[in-house]
Amino acid sequence: MTSLDRERIIVEDAEALALAAAEVFSRQARESVAVRGRFTVALAGGSTPRLLYARLTDPAAPFLAQIPWSQVHVFWGDERHVPPDDPQSNYWLAREQLLSRAPIPAGNLHRIEAERPDAKDAAAAYEAELIRFFSLSPGQAPRLDLVLLGMGTDGHTASLFPGSDALEVRDALVAAPWIAKFSSYRITLTLPVFNASAAVQFLVSGKDKAETLRAVFDPKSPPDAFPCQRISPANGRLTWLVDRAAASALESR
Ligand code: 6PG
Repeated sequence: MTSLDRERIIVEDAEALALAAAEVFSRQARESVAVRGRFTVALAGGSTPRLLYARLTDPAAPFLAQIPWSQVHVFWGDERHVPPDDPQSNYWLAREQLLSRAPIPAGNLHRIEAERPDAKDAAAAYEAELIRFFSLSPGQAPRLDLVLLGMGTDGHTASLFPGSDALEVRDALVAAPWIAKFSSYRITLTLPVFNASAAVQFLVSGKDKAETLRAVFDPKSPPDAFPCQRISPANGRLTWLVDRAAASALESR
C-alpha cells in the first residue's frame, strides 16, 4: 500500500468540495469506461453529496458533457428503510439532483428496494442484484470503481454505526441493521464490499464534523474506534476530501 493510495485533501468550503468531488467522479468515470466499458459507482446518502450531485449536472459546469452517462451504473452505499419517493430516501436525494438531470439509462440504476416491508428482504434483493451484475462467485465481493461516503458526527459511515453488528458481517454483501437511535432499519453495504472497491472517497463538510475528524485522524485514537476507520480498501485508493471547517481541528502537518 503506497501513500499515494491514501490521501487527505483539504479544500476551502462546501462549494470547492463539490467541485473537487465532481472532478474525481468525471475523471474516474471516463477512465473506467475507457478500460472496462462501464463505470460502477456507489452513491452516498445524507446531505453532503447534494451539492456534488447538483454540480455534476449543472449545465454551466463541464461534467454533464464530459461524463459517458450511458455507461454509468449507479448503486447506493446504503438506504433508509423508506419508499423511494420519501424525502428521507438516499435514492430520492440522488434522483432530485442527479438522476433526473443526467441521461443515465433506467436499467443502469441499481436501487435498493427499501420500500419492501421487511428490510432484510430489501438487503437480500440488493445482494442478489450485486451478484447478478458483477457475476460474483460465492463469497466474492464486487469491485466498485468508486464509492462515495459521508461521515456522521459519531463516526458512522453509510449505515455502519458504532457498535452495530453490521460492522462484523463478513459473509454477506448487504446487511439490514436495526438502528436504535433512529428506531428504524437501514440497508447497507458491508465492509467486505467497501474494502474491495477500487476507490473510496469520503466527503466531509462543516464545523460539526471537526471534532470527530480530529479523533478519526488522531494517531493516539484506537485504530477502529469509529466505523469510518474500518473503511480501508485492500487494493484501492482511499481519499478524504474535507473542507476547511471540517478540518479545523486537525493538527497541521
Ligand atoms: C445516510 C448516509 C450517512 C451520511 C452521514 C453524513 O444515509 O445518512 O449514508 O452515512 O453519509 O450521516 O451525513 P451528512 O452528509 O448529512 O452530514
